[in-house]
Amino acid sequence: MRMYDIIMKKRNGGTLSKEEIHFMINGYVKGEIPDYQMSAMTMAIYYQGMTDEEMTELTLAMAASGDQMDLSGIQGIKVDKHSTGGVGDKTTLVLAPIVAACGGRVAKISGRGLGHTGGTLDKLESIPGLSVAVEGEDFVRQVNEIGLAVIGQTGNLVPADKKLYALRDVTATVDSVPLIASSIMSKKLASGSDAIVLDVKTGSGAFMKETEDSILLAQKMVAIGTLAGRRVVALITDMDTPLGHNVGNALEVQEAVATLQGRGPADLTEVCLTLATNMLVLSGKGSYEECMAMAKGAIANGSAFAKLKAMVAAQGGDSRVLDDLALYGEADVMEELLAPVDGYVEHIDTEGCGIAAAMLGAGRETKEDTIDMLAGLYLAKKEGDEVKKGEVLARLYTCDGSKMAKAKEKLLSCYAYCEEKPVVMPLILAKVTKDGVERYDE
Ligand code: URA
Repeated sequence: MRMYDIIMKKRNGGTLSKEEIHFMINGYVKGEIPDYQMSAMTMAIYYQGMTDEEMTELTLAMAASGDQMDLSGIQGIKVDKHSTGGVGDKTTLVLAPIVAACGGRVAKISGRGLGHTGGTLDKLESIPGLSVAVEGEDFVRQVNEIGLAVIGQTGNLVPADKKLYALRDVTATVDSVPLIASSIMSKKLASGSDAIVLDVKTGSGAFMKETEDSILLAQKMVAIGTLAGRRVVALITDMDTPLGHNVGNALEVQEAVATLQGRGPADLTEVCLTLATNMLVLSGKGSYEECMAMAKGAIANGSAFAKLKAMVAAQGGDSRVLDDLALYGEADVMEELLAPVDGYVEHIDTEGCGIAAAMLGAGRETKEDTIDMLAGLYLAKKEGDEVKKGEVLARLYTCDGSKMAKAKEKLLSCYAYCEEKPVVMPLILAKVTKDGVERYDE
């Protein structure tokens, strides 16, 4: 078999066989196939696409390229959630405890933030003492004992994706549905859960800006997961506006706590309950209506909040800060952003908000940057809200005052106003299962 012939076949619109796909991925990971041939292949895939079977073989070959998590020691159905990333997206911190409180098993590997999007591991590490490095038997024991663990990647999971993603990043082949779908699903399959709920974000703060593109990506990921023998559902959720009011690590943990205590913002609560309900249904805990009632009950009776505290304590964190958020402390510098006009907030440039938060120190530009855990934004006014000139639009927090002016200017530029109350998009736009697409935005 020669890589040259496989590239030619895909370039001409052919369908690659299982053997060809495995040859290509194994050879690339071993260094036998050079970057220049693989970049020709990713460009051929970009233009010619892949069938569902090709995508599944590509995903399986990538998932098998390194270590795979063995979760067989965990009793029951293991359920995972993956978000394609956004601004203010603290859903894992809310839904994992809800699912665990309802008897589900969440053994979750999360990531760090980069660029304008935040990462769950950074948010968790804002809790004093908490470690995301829980390995092997300890991970399995924690999930068996309390129903959830959220940790960072250990071992050498999916090296093929690490190499391929770096290559795609510099060859203008990131935004290819088969390549994104196989990249995300290879990591999900290697992480070992039986069931997966995908939260595919759409809008100005998301990777996919258009709903139709998000639905297509979701369909492909659901098809891959199903063909690989996993239970998979995808929800298309709005990321045209930040989720909740808080953006930044400690600020987001505080908002997640409020949501678990039943005091959260309506948008965040709705998205978390919907995702958690789907996770419980996939875990075989009951019908959709029964699982929604259980999820709401876990917030109302405090059992979900108790699970978050149990997880924090199990991972070495000081769970007292969750009961008394004042123990977190506040950033050294806080400034208010005031509305420049009377009217309604028509739109908030969500990616811009993420950048403003990162400029304050809440995110990193490079993997080596350190994070200011207390930095970030409180968005007092959201899309559709009425504002009066001089009223507080947002509060900005940082421990480095020299970062304030530029971040404030950036955040101000994110707000657009109108005179009439605008129509606000629904939060959950569609659900994709192996049986089809259910749309809620029509
Ligand atoms: N996230 C991933 O993990 N992979 C992609 O290709 C795009 C987003």
